[in-house]
Amino acid sequence: FIDRPDNRTDDDLNNVITQDEQMLRILDKVRTVAPSNAPVLVQGETGTGKELIAQALHNLSFRTKSGQIVALNCAAIPETLLESEMFGAEKGAYTGSDSQHVGRFERADKGTLFLDEISDLSLPLQSKLLRALQEREIERVGGSQPIKVDVRIVACTNENIQQIVDQGKFRADLFYRLDVIRIVLPPLRHRPGDIPLLADHFLEQYNKEYAKTVQGFSQEAIQVLTSYQWPGNVRQLENAVQSAVIQTQSDLIVAGDIDLHRDESSPPPIEPVSQDHSDRIPFQVGMTLRDLEKEAIMRTLEAHDFNQTKTAETLEVTSRTIRNKLREYDKPESQ
Ligand SMILES: Nc1ncnc2c1ncn2[C@@H]1O[C@H](COP(=O)(O)OP(=O)(O)OP(=O)(O)O)[C@@H](O)[C@H]1O
Ligand SMILES: [Mg+2]
Repeated sequence: FIDRPDNRTDDDLNNVITQDEQMLRILDKVRTVAPSNAPVLVQGETGTGKELIAQALHNLSFRTKSGQIVALNCAAIPETLLESEMFGAEKGAYTGSDSQHVGRFERADKGTLFLDEISDLSLPLQSKLLRALQEREIERVGGSQPIKVDVRIVACTNENIQQIVDQGKFRADLFYRLDVIRIVLPPLRHRPGDIPLLADHFLEQYNKEYAKTVQGFSQEAIQVLTSYQWPGNVRQLENAVQSAVIQTQSDLIVAGDIDLHRDESSPPPIEPVSQDHSDRIPFQVGMTLRDLEKEAIMRTLEAHDFNQTKTAETLEVTSRTIRNKLREYDKPESQ
């Protein structure tokens, strides 16, 4: 007989949209491990849903009534403030502190402490965190009394921590303490079946938010979405759909509405766009010039990761021409 937290149903996981086998297995694992107090390490590229999973782990635990989930982003807070954010500080612990400060560990007592971007934690703080986890107690900065804390740790990272351990930048003993249950979220490009599903989900969400009535995506638009590599994963897809919903002129999102302006600072996806002969257009007598042109535009778009500006440059036309052509291809009567 496995005791389950009261009133917890799969509703807590319903906001995780997926139909992918591997993701569904991960959700099963989340349901299974959530009620235990074991630490969980969630690994995955940026935008793959790590925070969503951390929240689900808390929602499906026994800790929702006794405590809350408290987040601490180890990369966002300056090193000098991180210790007191984590463990709290007594009055007068440092210059300018004229009141006592309760840290995130204490606020997460009997709940979940969600340590985001754990790999960015400095070595001195790693030692302090390790001690807190081993002793199950913390000391506020400037304090002398240890304080008992009962927290469940969910740590997230978008890096391979094992590598950082091997480089000597992350303590192996802390890593093993955090890495009791590991959940690795696959990048969106490895679950292409989820792309149309998520796109529809975000379409509905942003229709509501902007009081729009966009009905769906054209075939070409879906083709653009499913063949893109999504280095920013689900978050980037969400942003693309949001921007298309706002900008579309019709009740259907067409390929030209999808603006995949890539952040120049983000590295290009590792996988090549295609390994086949997509740089060649098969021509058969019977094809129209229009068919050939469409083929040329779609292939060039694909080769440029759907960047319309670069496609226009390659084909020596204006971006406006590309946009207009894409709109035209999406019109059913012109097929
Ligand atoms: N499977 C999913 N279903 C629905 N929404 C999702 C899914 N995965 C991610 N999202 C949404 O995508 C966005 C990014 O997800 P989240 O913040 O959990 O990513 P992350 O892995 O924590 O990213 P980062 O490493 O950049 O912090 C959020 O708005 C989240 O709600
Ligand atoms: Mg996150």
